[in-house]
Amino acid sequence: MTHLMHRQIGKDYPIAVRGEGVHIYDSTGKQYIDASGGAAVSCLGHGHKDVIDAMKAQLDKLEFAHTSFFTTPALEDLADDLAAHAPPGLTHTFFVSGGSEAIEAAIKMARQVAVERGEPQRRHLISRRQSYHGITFGALAIGGRASARRDFSPLLIETHHVSPVYEYRDRRANETPEAYGERLAQELEAKIDELGGDNVLAFIAETVVGATLGAVPAVPGYFKRVRQICDKHGVLLILDEVMCGMGRTGTLHACEQEGIAPDLMAIAKGLGGGFMPIGALMMSGKIFDTIARGSGAFQHSHTYTGHPLACAAALAVQRIIRRDNLLANVQAQGAYLSRRLQERFGNHPFVGDVRGRGMFQGIEIVADRGTKEPFDPARKLHAKIKQEAMARGLMVYPMGGTMDGKRGDHVLMAPPFISDSDTIDQIVERLGEAVDAAIG
Ligand SMILES: Cc1ncc(COP(=O)(O)O)c(C=O)c1O
Repeated sequence: MTHLMHRQIGKDYPIAVRGEGVHIYDSTGKQYIDASGGAAVSCLGHGHKDVIDAMKAQLDKLEFAHTSFFTTPALEDLADDLAAHAPPGLTHTFFVSGGSEAIEAAIKMARQVAVERGEPQRRHLISRRQSYHGITFGALAIGGRASARRDFSPLLIETHHVSPVYEYRDRRANETPEAYGERLAQELEAKIDELGGDNVLAFIAETVVGATLGAVPAVPGYFKRVRQICDKHGVLLILDEVMCGMGRTGTLHACEQEGIAPDLMAIAKGLGGGFMPIGALMMSGKIFDTIARGSGAFQHSHTYTGHPLACAAALAVQRIIRRDNLLANVQAQGAYLSRRLQERFGNHPFVGDVRGRGMFQGIEIVADRGTKEPFDPARKLHAKIKQEAMARGLMVYPMGGTMDGKRGDHVLMAPPFISDSDTIDQIVERLGEAVDAAIG
């Protein structure tokens, strides 16, 4: 009898006891390829000695110092490191312990900045349907996953949603990707106009949509138009790169590939690579200056803000990614993963789409490739695929509700940046078997 409240009560979880490279081992000695990095977390795989050494060195010096009393070298060095490689204009970072906290901080900072700029009427938040921004109240309110919001909706702040970029299902047959992106940009502007441009605080989007859609990038030009529209109306652009950022798509920040920079950006998972819980809110120099010249303090902090051990771990992770030239590996092996997925599933009767960027790839499962009709959600196909994959020693991240929060299934993959082509081959082979076994 367990005294732990598991995520799913009554489910029998294997007991993870050891990790090494791309593998996790359970208490029976069974080996699993971590092809999803948990949930796009373990970018360096498991048990990386250099990260562990850096963490031990930090522990030997100082385990914790509260940021209301001190700053620490680990904290300052990580902020410097992030600033040195930030998208243009992002100069400062506020540290938290995870993705949802980073999003909460982004929402509050957007609001505080509006107030300090003398625009207290700005209060509306616009985000996209079929997005995931975290599980705390603010993050849940902006999140577009209807099923996650349903029970809590009476407690959530008011937010507004527009369409996601979901080319596979939503681009019209006679529409170019660019025209589709323009149509979505116009929808955003219409929503801003409807709410009154001066009343809108921020637009929030995942640069590449992760858990809810399964590694879906935007179409060319979309984010450039979003940036223009936000600028025109004085609306802050918040990018959620909690899952898709920190190298996952082949560039350190996913927005680099869109040719834009946000005003605020949430990062987390790959920042610390799972060695410690850490997330961060990166902000533009303009936003920092507004607060610096205004109240002089962000009205927001947590006890564990800037935890030295988390910062030391994250700094080691980021330095190793550069030292070992791992972004090049993400690009090369990501392209290989995409090709192998196309080969295995491109003509699969029940896979409608293979998509993604870098080491962030997804497949969408459909009952009929022609009509794109999904399987009956009662079949819980995504859960069966996960079960079949685990039985074959493979960790992937399947999810249901792809299409509209209720119907549709996809499988998300986010292998460690250290993966080689043998690992990729094994991932694709085992995933193919798991998908076929689950569909039956
Ligand atoms: C895009 C995105 N934002 C925010 C979050 C929330 O992060 P956390 O689970 O660390 O609170 C997640 C988690 O999956 C995410 O994928």
